[in-house]
Amino acid sequence: MRIVPTKGPLGASIEGVDLSVPLDEGTLQAIERALGDHGVIRFVGQRLTPLQLKTFSANFGELEINVANVHQEADAPEVMTLSNIKVDGKPIGLGDAGQGWHTDMSYSSMVAFANVLYGITIPRRDGRPLGGTQFADMAAAYDALPDDVKGRIEGRTATHDFAKFWDMMRAAPGSTRPPLTEAQRKAKPPVSHPLVLVHPISGRRVLYANPGYTIRIDGMSVDESDALLAFLFEHQLQERFLYLHEWTEGDVLMWDNLRTIHRAIADYTADEPRLIKRCQVMATRYFAH
Ligand code: SIN
Repeated sequence: MRIVPTKGPLGASIEGVDLSVPLDEGTLQAIERALGDHGVIRFVGQRLTPLQLKTFSANFGELEINVANVHQEADAPEVMTLSNIKVDGKPIGLGDAGQGWHTDMSYSSMVAFANVLYGITIPRRDGRPLGGTQFADMAAAYDALPDDVKGRIEGRTATHDFAKFWDMMRAAPGSTRPPLTEAQRKAKPPVSHPLVLVHPISGRRVLYANPGYTIRIDGMSVDESDALLAFLFEHQLQERFLYLHEWTEGDVLMWDNLRTIHRAIADYTADEPRLIKRCQVMATRYFAH
């Protein structure tokens, strides 16, 4: 296994490992360490069935079964389809062309540790890949905060709400997301998490707030919370913290949700097909239920 880091704050390519077969403990530990070191890792040239994607992902914790999944794989309900492709006029997956910045599952009482995405069809124009996934490094963003802001957020919690991001995405042009039902809203009530997490692998402090789901810093007035969140949301998106993954078919991209926020880039059209399969690994290995 060869790990080739990018020059930026996040990202490494991993060559020489086949994710379709069971991996030994040493290899799994090396992958977890690489994720802790680089935040976003890419395994090149993979060929996986949905069941193999699920089996690989499950090495790192419990997998989420997403309530919004459009197409459920018979032997792997944990695998979600992300796609703008329609068959007989019907979407085969959740089909947002791009997204705003967020952290998956920060709205859940058990947050996500990692995402594992398998790129099957990648849109291209003039030979250039489209629909990239962009990341921002929340460990570097925390380190770069002014000391007085570090003091203001230390020991604080913030509230995250699933409906904030869903409703934002539904309002975007071309969205195929249906409105959340009352039952879905009730199943995902807002939750609070620490604004500063100590990362379970690296031990680094991480800013855990994202524009997609974070609605309020607990215990502050609405005005104070809005102003501080606006500052944090602007601070965390500085160029020096960013990394763009440009997809190639066969990539498996795994990222650390505790350390990063991300978004899918909306630079392709409904006629340019994109098909990705995804598993979300919950942080059950690191945090108590
Ligand atoms: C995600 O947020 O998990 C999907 C990102 C992507 O489609 O690139």
